[in-house]
Parts: sequence; C-alpha cells; structure tokens
Amino acid sequence: MMEKTYAAITGVQGWTPDYVLTNKELEGMVATTDEWITSRTGIRERRILKGKDLGTSVRGIEAVNALLAKTDTDPLDIDLLICATVTPDMMFPDTGNLIGHATGLKNAYCFDLSAACSGFLYALTTGAKFIESGTHKKVIVVGADKMSSILDYTDRTTCVLFGDGAGAVLLEPTSEPFGVMDTLLKSDGAGAQYLHQKAGGSMRPATIETIINREHFVYQNGKPVFKAAVSGMTDVVKQVMERNDMSISDVAWLTPHQANQRIIESVASMTGFPMERVMVNIHRYGNTTAATLPLCLSDYEPQLRKGDNLILTAFGGGFTWGAVYVKWAYDGKG
Ligand code: UT7
Repeated sequence: MMEKTYAAITGVQGWTPDYVLTNKELEGMVATTDEWITSRTGIRERRILKGKDLGTSVRGIEAVNALLAKTDTDPLDIDLLICATVTPDMMFPDTGNLIGHATGLKNAYCFDLSAACSGFLYALTTGAKFIESGTHKKVIVVGADKMSSILDYTDRTTCVLFGDGAGAVLLEPTSEPFGVMDTLLKSDGAGAQYLHQKAGGSMRPATIETIINREHFVYQNGKPVFKAAVSGMTDVVKQVMERNDMSISDVAWLTPHQANQRIIESVASMTGFPMERVMVNIHRYGNTTAATLPLCLSDYEPQLRKGDNLILTAFGGGFTWGAVYVKWAYDGKG
C-alpha cells in the first residue's frame, strides 16, 4: 500500500508594519472612544503601513524573506506560493506573483486566492492538497492584507476594527502524521450583502460617482456578521473535533480568526475551550483579515510543541468560514 503523505507546517513567520495606530489616535479621527473600542472589540491598537505606493506585497515579501531565512530554505526550491488577500496591490497581476518575483522564487508559480477573513484557511487547504498529492515538495502559503487601503477613516463602525499585516507558513511533505490533518471549509454567498466592498470590481468600476459616494471601502453590517461568525465557527470546530474523535483535552490550542474578542470568547465558550488555550492577539493588531491566523501561529510559535493538536477557525466576507485541524510538527524555540 502507498504510504500517505501529510503536509507539515515546518515554519511560520508573521510581519506587521511599524506604525501603531492607537485607539487614542482614532478618538481624534472619528466619534469614538478607547472605552467603546476596547469593550466592544478587545482591540487596543493596530499596525498601519505608511508610505506612498506600498501595497500588500510589501508585507508578503517581508514575511516570505524572513520565513526562507529562518527555515534555511533556498528560494529556488519553492514549487508554489499561494497568497490569500482581498487587498491585492493591483487588480492584476496577482500579488503572489509580485511576492514570488521579489523573493527570488524563480522555480515557483504563484497565485492569489480570495476568501476574505477565511483566506488563509482556504489557501492552507489548497497548498496541503498539492503536497499530499506528491507533486509539490515545498509550498509557501501567505495571508496578507493592507486593510487600511480600503477603510473609510470617517466611518467609525469599520475603521477602528482593522489593521495591516501578513504571515506565511512553509508546507513540506512527511510520512509521519503531522501537519494538516483535516479541513472543513464552507461558503454561502447569501452573506455577501452584510460585508463587501461596493465598487472597484467589474460590477461597479470606479467612477466619479463611486468615489463621491465612498463606495471603495469596506461596508459591514456588523450584527448579522457577528451572529453568523459565532454560530459558523462553533459549528465547524465541533464537526472537525467530532469526526476526528477529539475532546477538548486532546486539543492544545484553539486558533480563531481575530475579528472581535467577544466573538472569540463566545466561540470558546460554546465549544468548551478555556480561554488559556485560545490564541488571542487582537488587542495588538485588530482584524488583519487573511493575516490573523498566521500572525497568531507566529506569535505563539515559541509555546508550540511537536505533536500539539491545533484547531484553526475563521469566518469572514462571502460568507466564508471553516476549521482546519493541524498537528504541529516541531518544537517552537523559546
Ligand atoms: O472579520 C470579518 C468578519 N467581521 C466580524 O466578525 C465583525 C462582526 N461584528 C462585530 O464585531 C460587531 O458587530 C461590531 C464590533 C462591528 C459592532 O459592535 P456591536 O456591539 O454589534 O455594535 P452595533 O453595531 O450594534 O452598534 C452599537 C452602537 C451604535 O450606536 P446606536 O445606533 O446604538 O446609537 C453604533 O453607531 O455603537 C455605535 N458605534 C460606535 N460607537 C463608538 C459603532 N461603532 C462605534 C465606534 N465608537 N467605533
């Protein structure tokens, strides 16, 4: 019988820009308070990429370069790079291509994948399939977004929520059972009405009118998204645990998308996870869309041990959502 090939995560690297946008600074921009933002979302600050003509690829390039260095990987050995983003540098070519070019991935092909806040889980699942099939040996999965480029800094209901960031993982084959063990992805286009960007796509290309009407920014009706996020993530986490015969004590870490501390706490409570075993860094970065999960893995990497079971979960625009069971493949240093 052919041995099964697993897609192990053999390295992770996060990257965030230097500029820290605090709740205090936002108080001077829109009618909000540090108290409202902290108590309603858990966010204290977020990172913003400042500078002219700097797009999402900048974050991806920094993350990938550092990932290659820390895993001692020759860029020429990378077969494929998948970049999850909803804020590409340009409509085309894709941002993955730009990252691949700048990081010297001369033997790789690169493409983008768009699934909003669930983008990293979709890209991780896709990358894992290429490894598991035996056709690819080294795959980089990037989650990167420059949300500040599509935020309306006169709209207090959205601009306080998001930040800029990136994270990348390296996937490699192993015959031992480590890495992406199971994945459950979902989508439902009925949710598009609650969370989207109105203009800038083929349906409503940019016109003077779309600009005057401020349609090139994130639009969100928060309440229905909140509810669907809690029930959607709770459902897929429970399903993935059940079909892998896992109880709470078998799982070292729940790694949830970082959109709102209250969503994270509700999902933890409805699935039975104590908060000590839930990765949380929303207070530092806000919602970085496709970057939240690799940024969590990167921040918690020193605490991760070989064999730890992780359940990653996300919910976002689409709606898209999912849960991925990962068995961590190495001891983090720290
Ligand atoms: O990652 C993609 C998925 N996105 C999410 O998961 C986000 C899901 N939604 C949420 O996290 C929450 O719904 C929000 C944080 C967006 C909003 O929290 P909420 O508790 O649902 O507040 P709300 O929208 O019901 O607004 C309550 C009040 C409103 O005022 P009125 O109408 O009661 O007078 C808002 O205008 O809070 C007001 N408000 C603010 N006040 C101060 C909204 N934003 C702000 C603000 N500062 N930044």
